[in-house]
Amino acid sequence: MHTRLISPDDAGLAQASELLAQGQLVAVPTETVYGLAGDARNAAAVAGIYQAKGRPSFNPLIVHLPDLAAAERIATFDAPARLLAQRFWPGALTLVLPLRQGAGIASLVTAGLATVAIRIPSHPVAQALLRRFGGPLAAPSANPSGRISPTAAAHVADPETGLGGRIAAVLDAGSCPVGVESTIIGWVHGQPAVLRPGGIATEAVEAVLGQPVLRPEIDPDAPSAPGQLTSHYAPRAAVRLDALRAEPGELLIGFGAVAGEMSLSAQGDLAEAAANLFDLLHRADQAGRPIAIAPVPETGLGAAINDRLRRAAAPR
Ligand code: TXA
Ligand code: MG
Repeated sequence: MHTRLISPDDAGLAQASELLAQGQLVAVPTETVYGLAGDARNAAAVAGIYQAKGRPSFNPLIVHLPDLAAAERIATFDAPARLLAQRFWPGALTLVLPLRQGAGIASLVTAGLATVAIRIPSHPVAQALLRRFGGPLAAPSANPSGRISPTAAAHVADPETGLGGRIAAVLDAGSCPVGVESTIIGWVHGQPAVLRPGGIATEAVEAVLGQPVLRPEIDPDAPSAPGQLTSHYAPRAAVRLDALRAEPGELLIGFGAVAGEMSLSAQGDLAEAAANLFDLLHRADQAGRPIAIAPVPETGLGAAINDRLRRAAAPR
């Protein structure tokens, strides 16, 4: 299959929407990372997503919608969920909520669970496509399962490290401003939990809820999203964390005062580091040398960055 690069103008959006309506797959820019979108009502399209990514089929997908009103038609919101939706949507927050009966979402999307993960992206191209398409889009990150997430169209289109040749098209809107996936919040016996740290700081979620949330990365008894396999976001090269200098042959990615051949953020700015993270990992991986990465603080967006780095460095 030839993967088309489409510009996100009116004609391009019409073409992307038409491909989706035919059950084909289109990679779509969002503010977090590029997503591999398919019609969430079409079981064959959803099966195609799992197949293109080589993803284990027990791992459910996020449903993307244009606004809260559309979300309320497929899931039920209690007061805390609605509070978070009103404060953070559109944006880098995913909520795991009870799925409504008859919502029309293919059961492969939720992997048969009684809950559904929903996100309202803020990226203007994702918004424009959702409105034009007029239906729910299932979209995991547009990378082969276990590989580095894509923050640029070129990452997606690469035939070796991306999905080039396996999907119909990529809507090319440049690089993703947030750079790490959404924060996933769910409720476990009525208690809010961060199922995956991401582009919205957990502290900001706690401030809105007025209560602490369970953090699986700190509390080993808290549940995590079923997709949180340990080795993930993995470059082909070996990855060493908390490096203050490069060992011979290593490519050092710096942060703040630790300078490297490249830096997540020379200023030590966590938002800048998140936006640069996957692109630097892709570039370092192209260099074909072992990768060393400077320490990053665990606060704010640092939790999401360190989560991705620990997975990149985990034994495969
Ligand atoms: O920023 C993002 O969230 C990106 C963009 C494209 O929106 N999407 C993304 O999707 O990262 P994906 O499929 O790579 O990650 C989905 C995560 C998985 O860890 C999955 O296990 C979890 O969401 N998830 C989905 N549905 C769930 C559910 N019903 N209960 C618990 N976790 C769920
Ligand atoms: Mg992913």
